[in-house]
Amino acid sequence: MKKADLGLIGLAVMGENLVMNMESKGFTVAVYNRTTSKVDDFVNGRAKGKNIIGTHSIEELCANLERPRKVMLMVKAGAPVDSFIDQVIPFLEPGDIIIDGGNSHFPDTIRRCKYVEEKGFLYVGTGVSGGEEGALKGPSMMPGGSPAAWEAVKPIFQGICAKVESGDACCDWVGEGGAGHFVKMVHNGIEYGDMQLICEAYQLMRDYLGMSADEMHEVFAEWNKGELDSYLIEITRDILAYKDEDGAPIVDKILDTAGQKGTGKWTGIAALDEGVPLTLIGEAVFSRCLSAMKEERVAASKILNGPCGKFEGDEEAKKAFIEDIRCALFASKIVSYAQGYTLMRAAAKTYGWNLNYGGIALMWRGGCIIRSVFLGKIKDAFDAEPELANLLLNPYFKEAVEKSQAGWRRVCAAAITAGIPAPAFTTALNYYDGYRCEKLPANLLQAQRDYFGAHTYERLDSPRGQYFHTNWTGEGGSTSASTYTA
Ligand code: 2AM
Repeated sequence: MKKADLGLIGLAVMGENLVMNMESKGFTVAVYNRTTSKVDDFVNGRAKGKNIIGTHSIEELCANLERPRKVMLMVKAGAPVDSFIDQVIPFLEPGDIIIDGGNSHFPDTIRRCKYVEEKGFLYVGTGVSGGEEGALKGPSMMPGGSPAAWEAVKPIFQGICAKVESGDACCDWVGEGGAGHFVKMVHNGIEYGDMQLICEAYQLMRDYLGMSADEMHEVFAEWNKGELDSYLIEITRDILAYKDEDGAPIVDKILDTAGQKGTGKWTGIAALDEGVPLTLIGEAVFSRCLSAMKEERVAASKILNGPCGKFEGDEEAKKAFIEDIRCALFASKIVSYAQGYTLMRAAAKTYGWNLNYGGIALMWRGGCIIRSVFLGKIKDAFDAEPELANLLLNPYFKEAVEKSQAGWRRVCAAAITAGIPAPAFTTALNYYDGYRCEKLPANLLQAQRDYFGAHTYERLDSPRGQYFHTNWTGEGGSTSASTYTA
């Protein structure tokens, strides 16, 4: 029998679906699972009659692979990945490749890549996005690791991944070491942000405008036809129309406490580590935390007073305000992606990755949760200017924000006045106003730091890099603490 093009370890749903996807694209796949009865169930079930080889040991799996061997792990993130790497290595020869397609945290991938390379083999850590259905029909894939591995895995990855209308694959080489898993992490953070923005639009329509789920369904259906056209807007449209058994919208019956698995938190931590203002994703993560405090909120709602404003205007004014909400959502989304890209640029510098920013937008363009028409514009922006410092400076996005700006400000003002939380809309606007502000109040902040800690300051009338200290109280002496750059 023909040897397999790839060996996959981990027959949970994602693993199985990836195998079925690969097989359907003409690849032969060998499979192994810790609980080997799952191998038998799979080869005698879904995989029956397909070019899928079941194996019952890692040795047997590796013996069934074409060289260079490609062993892909689809197992639980954490210790199981390290354990399988060590179990696979004895059966590899130089040039063979271990691939981790799970949800690993990028520092682990950096460490594992180095470890496997030091042993003489190649390593790929790849983000796989799109859930179970994506894995089966075409996920977005974000591979990074040992650059020499790319040529060998490229035909398989680009064969099975999602494609955009032009036929371009939603998978390309991201960069060295942990770059693939980093970009996947940022993808998830951006997903948190996109979802939060939609939820803020929804809350304003529900609580401020007093709209029903059916009315909001119509609005999202309309929005999905324009520049907001995306998977998340589309499913929101459908969710709002979905009725429970009694005919009432099911969304109205769902408890308002959000769960999270931690990738948004990781993105926020990475931003803090890099010193990059990733405020919108941060608010999205914290909003989920606040939502989870349901009992406390219910109690506080009976104690803490504030406005519960309602929109007062005719149908025409209401329509105009809905358009303002659309503008707020669009402009905030641009800010969120601008922040996410800034984080990737900073991390690339820190870790020495050569990231292809346009390529990343293309990878996210199809197959994954944040897929949207909008990402095509981001790809265009980075293709036109690969070193673009901030997406807001690209002419298309600059103009889009300027066009949306008046409505966006009206929505933030109305939300604040009416007492309706809109943390992502407002933080995005604050970032925009801060980023375009020539003179922030940090001169005073530096004076404060120098006052209490002799941290020194630079002056507007002196060259950068010259540090001054003032003896503010006349008592502190003139010694200054070493300067901080962070
Ligand atoms: P299992 O079927 O033997 O439980 C998703 O959970 C995948 O990761 C499954 O294939 C599962 O194997 C595997 N997995 C989970 N924890 C594991 C561990 N500690 N060691 C090895 N494989 C593990």
